Amino acid sequence: MKWDVRKVDVLVVGAGAAGLMCAIAAGQRGRRVLVVDHANKVGKKILMSGGGRCNFTNTGAGPSNYLSANPHFAKSALARYTPADFIALVERHRIAYHEKELGQLFCDESSKQIVRMLLDECAAAGVTIEVDCPVQRVRKMAHGFSATTAHGEVHAESLVVACGGLSIPSMGASGFGYELARQFGHEVLPTRAGLVPLTLSGKHQDHYQDLAGVALPAVETRVGKQAFRAGLLFTHRGISGPSILQISSYWQPGDDLRIDLAPDQDLGTWLVGQRAARPAAELKTVLADVLPKRLAQRLCEQWFESRPMRQYREAELAGIGAQLANWPITASGTEGYRTAEVTLGGVDTDGLSSSTMQSKRVPGLYFIGEVVDVTGWLGGYNFQWAWASGQAAGAVV
Ligand code: FDA
Repeated sequence: MKWDVRKVDVLVVGAGAAGLMCAIAAGQRGRRVLVVDHANKVGKKILMSGGGRCNFTNTGAGPSNYLSANPHFAKSALARYTPADFIALVERHRIAYHEKELGQLFCDESSKQIVRMLLDECAAAGVTIEVDCPVQRVRKMAHGFSATTAHGEVHAESLVVACGGLSIPSMGASGFGYELARQFGHEVLPTRAGLVPLTLSGKHQDHYQDLAGVALPAVETRVGKQAFRAGLLFTHRGISGPSILQISSYWQPGDDLRIDLAPDQDLGTWLVGQRAARPAAELKTVLADVLPKRLAQRLCEQWFESRPMRQYREAELAGIGAQLANWPITASGTEGYRTAEVTLGGVDTDGLSSSTMQSKRVPGLYFIGEVVDVTGWLGGYNFQWAWASGQAAGAVV
């Protein structure tokens, strides 16, 4: 379908979490809002999120749960639109939810309910949404912007870039938001995949490859001063699970990644106790009490000999305990944008107002959501940033 030039107050590019939230807030203020998306339906990432149940926020979300070159940037928006605000919206729409763990809130039924809620709010606020509508070109005019879209020319006073990051291209991710930022003179900080499984190669892969499927419910992963305690899973190509996804956002090739395989106990002391209690038991059998059996076996085959416990000196057992608490893993890379939940880096926050997300260079231009250099931890933090930054812009566009 083609139209002549259409005039709107606000053109939002990207009908994801941030774009829809911004559109709702602007529409509620009486602004004429058009949201366009090149994908064939809105909110694809919301639909696939949280295993189909959308981990839509985290009750503990605060600035310290985000990575950004400017760790202060997210403070204002996060403080003005809080998890409680989004929860109130979810409750108004009678969507049942539950806390899984650590403040992570999920729909009881389906993430479709969150998309439905956003679409209902858009409809109530008079927002127009058009899918299958790529934006080919954007120009600054004397007043506002002109966008060439697959559905014709659009003139808008304000342009909101809500195109997301590069993660999962098959879901509609594109670098278009970054292109627009550069076009208007904004700095784009280097991007990389975040919340993503890590890969192993060479002998490091050989050591663990046949452990694919082995899971540890709680390990502590560490890079530098950052640590996360959660599950770990060995995969065919490397390591995954929440503790690895979390630390992947802090890890870069060459960084020293350490894992405490049993963070809830002092394994050295425990092993010494086991020597007294079970002197004839082999080390691999004893370790299988606290680690998955296949992993315990592999550790003994590869790194420690498995002898009866009585044959170990106390210092040796203490040493094995210390090694298991600080196990080095040499990752070669990440699985990349194909499977990453988020994109780190992006539009430099130095060029944006932290209270409105407006460009400091081009009045009327806004960047919100994942396209901005603000990336949350795993656990509902990224949607909270999308809602909060969308709301911040929607209140003023
Ligand atoms: P988002 O990517 O949602 O939307 C951008 C939109 O822009 C898309 O609709 C895209 O089609 C459109 N677009 C791109 N280029 C365009 C162009 N050139 N023209 C027009 N439109 C264009 N977070 C969380 O908090 N809890 C969770 O449970 C999960 N789970 C999860 C699972 C998986 C598999 C992934 C990949 C990600 C998550 N996330 C998550 C992260 C979360 O989905 C993400 O941070 C937000 O969706 C970001 O919202 P945005 O609106 O910024 O981008």
